[in-house]
Amino acid sequence: MTADPYLSCPVMADAAEPRLDFGGTTPYEDYVHASVLHSLQKTVTKDPREMSFLVITQVMELYFTLLVFEWRHTQERLRDDDVPGALDALRRSAAHLQALRAAWLPLARMTPREFNSFRDALGEGSGFQSGAFRHMEFLLGEKSASLLVPHRSVPALHAELEEALSAPSVYDDVLALLARRGHPVPAELLSRDLTQPYRPSAEVEQVWAAIYCGEPGELSDLGEALTDVAEQFTRWRHDHLIATRRAMGAKTGTGGSAGVSWLEKRARRDVFPELWTARSYV
Ligand code: HEM
Repeated sequence: MTADPYLSCPVMADAAEPRLDFGGTTPYEDYVHASVLHSLQKTVTKDPREMSFLVITQVMELYFTLLVFEWRHTQERLRDDDVPGALDALRRSAAHLQALRAAWLPLARMTPREFNSFRDALGEGSGFQSGAFRHMEFLLGEKSASLLVPHRSVPALHAELEEALSAPSVYDDVLALLARRGHPVPAELLSRDLTQPYRPSAEVEQVWAAIYCGEPGELSDLGEALTDVAEQFTRWRHDHLIATRRAMGAKTGTGGSAGVSWLEKRARRDVFPELWTARSYV
């Protein structure tokens, strides 16, 4: 006999009011640590725009942490051959990336005069020095040992990034899964030097083309979920690039790079490259 779902659902108490009396901090505070979060907005100028810049940067950092978590979880699911579990995590992460991109809105129309009003106070600080962003890039296959250098003096972060540099990226785990499912992924790709950036392969392009030419299924769903992530990540880079062009034109960055031309070069790179090129053969 099957259980009656109506009997097992909780019954709502009539017009109950929330609890008001707590001995110490509230359970909300214990869980969210809101007072810690609200104590972190230490602006360095009196310019009211700087508060938007700082809070939005902090919000983006929190999203970077969330994305690292989701992609590491995706890897665990892939290693267990649990494609539905990996799809859930990838789809969540594509939605997080969209929410992250929406955070650009208040910064995207900053004029050079407005940016100048607090820019000097940022000194040499730059998002280029974000360890969480670098971790995201490593998970997406964009490895670079030299980008560990800014974090040499912070042992815990340096160790985390060093581990991510030599560990498989999400895409390496996807290729291993495709090989286990009988697709002809070249052996040298499966045992490649993981500290190097992923380079596109004609054979992998053919594997994706074959998956997309066949009946839709788990693996083509995986391809599309990865493409959504790649697209949203590239769009974040473009949002950043356009906001930077509006705020500072072709001036050099606070991190010391050539600024817009450096960001343009980085924005031209494709995440999960064969998922884009294989489409020409389907
Ligand atoms: C309109 C405001 C912003 C401007 C003008 C700007 C400008 C720049 C510039 C010129 C660079 C190149 C490195 C350098 O020389 O500094 C850079 C890199 C970077 N910025 Fe921003 N940025 C802005 C807002 C943000 C925000 C809110 C974030 C969020 C965390 C962010 C994250 C990054 C990251 C992660 C990089 C490294 C990109 C990479 O390695 O490919 N930026 N930014």
